[in-house]
Amino acid sequence: MSDDPTGATIEDYLAEDRTFPPPESFKADALLTDAEVYDEAATDREGFWARQAADLLTWRREWDTVLEWDEPFARWFVGGQLNACENCLDRHVEAGRGDRVAFHWEGEPGDTRTITYADLLAEVQRFANALKGLGVEKGDRVAIYMPMVPELAVAVLACARIGAPHSVVFGGFSADSLADRINDASCKVVVTADGGWRRGKPGLLKPTVDVALADTSSVEAVVVVDRIASSGGDVETDMTEGRDHWYHELVAAADAECPAEPMDSEDLLYLLYTSGTTGKPKGIMHTTGGYMTQVAFTHKYVFDLHPETDVYWCTADIGWVTGHSYIVYGPLANGATSVMYEGTPDTPGRDRFWDLVETYGITILYTAPTAIRTFMKWGVEEPQKHDLSSLRVLGSVGEPINPEAWVWYHINIGGERCPIVDTWWQTETGAIMISPLPGATTTKPGSATFPLPGISAELVDNDGTPVPKGGGYLTLTEPWPSMLRGIYGDPERYQETYWSRFAGRYFAGDGAKVDDDGYTWVLGRVDDVMNVSGHRISTTEVESALVDNAKVAEAAVVGAKDDTTGQAIVAFVTLRGSTEASEEVGAELREHVADKIGKIGRPKTIIFTDDLPKTRSGKIMRRLLRDVAEGRELGDTTTLADPNVVEEIRDRAAAGA
Ligand code: WT7
Repeated sequence: MSDDPTGATIEDYLAEDRTFPPPESFKADALLTDAEVYDEAATDREGFWARQAADLLTWRREWDTVLEWDEPFARWFVGGQLNACENCLDRHVEAGRGDRVAFHWEGEPGDTRTITYADLLAEVQRFANALKGLGVEKGDRVAIYMPMVPELAVAVLACARIGAPHSVVFGGFSADSLADRINDASCKVVVTADGGWRRGKPGLLKPTVDVALADTSSVEAVVVVDRIASSGGDVETDMTEGRDHWYHELVAAADAECPAEPMDSEDLLYLLYTSGTTGKPKGIMHTTGGYMTQVAFTHKYVFDLHPETDVYWCTADIGWVTGHSYIVYGPLANGATSVMYEGTPDTPGRDRFWDLVETYGITILYTAPTAIRTFMKWGVEEPQKHDLSSLRVLGSVGEPINPEAWVWYHINIGGERCPIVDTWWQTETGAIMISPLPGATTTKPGSATFPLPGISAELVDNDGTPVPKGGGYLTLTEPWPSMLRGIYGDPERYQETYWSRFAGRYFAGDGAKVDDDGYTWVLGRVDDVMNVSGHRISTTEVESALVDNAKVAEAAVVGAKDDTTGQAIVAFVTLRGSTEASEEVGAELREHVADKIGKIGRPKTIIFTDDLPKTRSGKIMRRLLRDVAEGRELGDTTTLADPNVVEEIRDRAAAGA
């Protein structure tokens, strides 16, 4: 069967090993159409970034030095002053663009809001004053735990305005995870909501905050957005007298004007926690000037943004770095008009995304391979119900995109006329690092192509020797403006985690290959970090959550290949003496992990075994376990207590596999 109007099948595309040059019609209006910008950046890297900083941002004070580099600590635009919020809002309003729409917001139940730059600035100033009224001062940390409502962007920008670093915690995380993050940064205030709509039901957040706060001591006030109750949901929210405040009451009472705080280029803008190879999430630090420069640059040129005419939609949640850089800071710095959507792609129907594209005339769509593979499963009938002809650029992020998904996206969503930008980057890099430029780069399905201008990447072998072609470890060889400045409270861990494996290089944790034409193909993590639906989660974190249950003696967790989510979490568990393996125990353990970490940590499958294969030095043989897991059909809820598995593990371990 063919999904292609021309009659070609996906197999035809793959067999041809086709390359996709930018269509001439696209090039005609593209911002960048040739390789000149790469040469320019290669000749004078610092000068190149300094030009971007000057072109794309408004500074209160110009910098003295572009870069101070004392490996592994970088300082960009040293001596410069600016405010991120002012760059996102005030300057657009002052330039007469206050009526431009910043966000077309759509709630899952179908309620909508149109928020202009002027509206957003007014609301942010009031909320910034409200935060000040709660005692938040420059430098204080504010935790944000919210659904995808406009107030989430308001809270982020209000923090930036007064110089209070925000720490956004994804709304799917558990009370324990939230408490850990609040404690690590001693947050003073938490901004949350009664809940958000998910698959037609209210997903409550405030009760989780209440549980988390029982284990924290730094929080003085909680601000609660009334999302569910105000949209017809039946929810009673407990408010603790003296601590909890309704957002709408604070904003109504706040002063309308709040001048933006001038910030040093290297002042902390935000913390965002991400999983590493150990059980303890790392507070990744991003500062102001360099971060804003690179997010504005990449958002403009990677998506070929024409802010007067484009309607841009990044489908991520602001709880992840993609949302920070490409829903809030990048698009707003560039004066873009964005769509923001609260809910899931299957509510009320499996065509919700395509309905949004048609309704708002979306021109640039940035989503994840796991979503694309889900849409493939749902069938072409869903996108075919809608007119998608407004689209002109498609983006992908979060994990390697398999060529089948790439080609499906190209044909069925992009109508074969839209360049696809497969963007490789990380929470730590802050902004896109390896990606095509849509008007200049000939793409290959599944390859993120080349490092962007001003970015230097190189593959190395086990000994750190550069590998110009073939497979190797992906490293970055020069500091870049939006790089992490460290791990909050732990400079040694920063050095140790990223800069010690290969001398003089940042090691990203990914394996990659470079082909004969110099194209980079990122293959995925080579460490104990799993990637499930584009979300990072460490094997150790899930193992710790499992052994926290009294029935579990030992656990080993692996990420097994999964057709939809990229990887799926599979846990091998040995139970304590008296407990018998059963479906019920498996279900209990899966829920236990969801309670400890959040749903994203819940194992897809639990496999009970009498013992775990270990090397002589006592290390669990994860690769063997991954092979075993990948060798069988993994059910969604099924819990295997399969004697064959145990046999296989024993046999393989004995054979030294
Ligand atoms: C890891 C970073 C960057 C925002 C979303 C994830 C994987 C990300 C790609 C891509 C291949 C990719 C890598 C990376 N990854 N984008 N285009 N091709 N792999 O941010 O949670 O910090 O995860 O995601 O493995 O190291 P993150």
